[in-house]
Amino acid sequence: MENKNANISQILITEEEITNRVKEIAAKITNDYKNALKPPCMIGLLKGSYVFMADLLRLIDLPVEVDFIVVSSYGNEMIGSEVRILKDAFLSLEGRDIIIIEDIIDTGCTLEKICDHLKTRSPSSLKICTLLNKPSRRKVDIKIDYNCFDIDDLFIVGYGIDYAQKYRNLPYIGVVEK
Ligand code: IMP
Ligand code: MG
Repeated sequence: MENKNANISQILITEEEITNRVKEIAAKITNDYKNALKPPCMIGLLKGSYVFMADLLRLIDLPVEVDFIVVSSYGNEMIGSEVRILKDAFLSLEGRDIIIIEDIIDTGCTLEKICDHLKTRSPSSLKICTLLNKPSRRKVDIKIDYNCFDIDDLFIVGYGIDYAQKYRNLPYIGVVEK
């Protein structure tokens, strides 16, 4: 079998750069929610956010609650106009502070749909935290509250993010030769 780094043409963001930036974002979230009455509900979008979320949450110095939403993907990439929720969050979200944890915001269609859906569950606030952002590809307006890195229009993998279900276990963000 080939090794896990096969077909990676470039390391875009190193493990060390990710670690440092995730620490900064965790410190911001800790500061922003330190006076909250209840722990914020951190809702990860599976599968892509799981590595980022695991690292981020362990660096947040506050109690948090955790849940996940699974959105449908067609083939190997998301088709924005056909985003479907396969598994919803189980936590009671009414009156709660929600932070959505996403791996990468591309067109923004996935998050638009998820935000519209979560608003129907009457949270007291709803914020978005993403590891990566591709602003040049945006089709809908999304306000990002916590963004680790802006990247160019490249197809990337690693740190939880896949191509055809592979490369999620790379510790860095790399560009894959498709
Ligand atoms: P959006 O609805 O277009 O914002 O799509 C966001 C989703 O598309 C992400 O959560 C990823 O699952 C996927 N995606 C977008 N860009 C990439 C990429 O460069 N590599 C891997 N997946 C990507
Ligand atoms: Mg995703």
